[in-house]
Amino acid sequence: MKTYDLRSDTITKPTDAMRKAMAAAEVGDDVYFEDPSINKLQEMAAELTGKEAALFVSSGSMGNLISIFLHAGQGREVLCHRDSHIIHHELSSGSALAGAALIGLEGGRGKLNPGALSSAVRPDRYDNCRSGMVELENTINGVYYRRVELKAVSDFAVAAGLPVHMDGARLFNAALASGMTVSEIAAHADSVSFCLSKGLGAPVGSCLCGSKEFIKEARRIRKMLGGGMRQAGILAAAGIYALENNVERLADDHAAASRIAEALSGCSWAELEPADVETNIIFFNTVGRSAGQVVESLAEKGVLGSSDGASTIRLVTSLAVGGGDIDDICSIIEGEA
Ligand SMILES: Cc1ncc(COP(=O)(O)O)c(C=O)c1O
Repeated sequence: MKTYDLRSDTITKPTDAMRKAMAAAEVGDDVYFEDPSINKLQEMAAELTGKEAALFVSSGSMGNLISIFLHAGQGREVLCHRDSHIIHHELSSGSALAGAALIGLEGGRGKLNPGALSSAVRPDRYDNCRSGMVELENTINGVYYRRVELKAVSDFAVAAGLPVHMDGARLFNAALASGMTVSEIAAHADSVSFCLSKGLGAPVGSCLCGSKEFIKEARRIRKMLGGGMRQAGILAAAGIYALENNVERLADDHAAASRIAEALSGCSWAELEPADVETNIIFFNTVGRSAGQVVESLAEKGVLGSSDGASTIRLVTSLAVGGGDIDDICSIIEGEA
């Protein structure tokens, strides 16, 4: 039986061509700034995001943590959405290690808005914690910020004197879905991180981008966290390959997710509006059966998904599935009683 892995876009494995690029990478000691592949990846990331500089970091979590260290720091609040990755899946590292408080705000479909942000900024009293930064995630659970929404958040932040960090783990998906360029999106944030190891298909790594001064300090915090790298150009080469070869194909993942959403919308046990699926991540509720039961039953037929609640299932498309796989996946879903 063939298995179709829709648990996450992090399950992708480097292709032969990517492995070849890794094997051929020129390397050097990055603590001496001497790894040509890392330097090249960082230059590409800075150019793509329209920022002055970039830093290769081991993970999206590390990029977010470094930004919290630098923008908020000890005793300040990070204003973010209550559904955000830094709240749910990063072990509160922003609090545990950077000393900031993570404040989870309400907002439709995971997105921040000026109303929620302004009600979270405390009056300027000596015993009040100060806001330190705004953190937004784009895409968040597969949903992207519209241009006007980004502008509203960044206008608020500028007026409030708060720096913005964008967790752009899936920044390229957001660009594709919104029709904005990556740099147009990133212009609404002081710093932005994107992951190479999700839909872009690299085995490891993220890029944190921002001003020269911010990245200079970020390098120090990365070192403090034990993230200084040596001949990691082998990994950066996978990132370069991903940026050169795997960005445009994200459109295939979005189209595949739409097709799967259409198939699900015809199933009595699934509740979703296909138009709500905006990129490569499908969330839906089950009806009459628990999410666990449905995930188990689909897995027995070869379609792997994940359930993070009693009635919610997540399916994610990526380069791990493509072409005829999507027809098979839709047939299995449609055949699920
Ligand atoms: C939105 C978002 N931000 C950050 C991360 C963290 O990335 P990493 O797993 O590389 O630490 C993830 C990982 O899934 C994510 O989905």
